[in-house]
Amino acid sequence: MSQLEIQVFDNGPIKLGGAPFIIKDAAGNTYDLNGRDAIALCRCGASANKPFCDGAHRSSGFASKCEAHQLPPPKPKL
Ligand code: FES
Repeated sequence: MSQLEIQVFDNGPIKLGGAPFIIKDAAGNTYDLNGRDAIALCRCGASANKPFCDGAHRSSGFASKCEAHQLPPPKPKL
């Protein structure tokens, strides 16, 4: 069984891959990924093709190092 894998790159995008997925906009419309089974989402804000990474993070000066860690327990739902 495949599992969706999300990888956060230092100073760069968030990559999705490893399993089928869809990406929707705020209105619920699905992006046509044209057969791609992996995609990089921009987290620097500099892409001209948001929400997808176009490589602009390399020249934007974006700096964000992320290391895996444990989140606190979720707050109880009321
Ligand atoms: S993370 Fe690549 S353009 Fe923003």
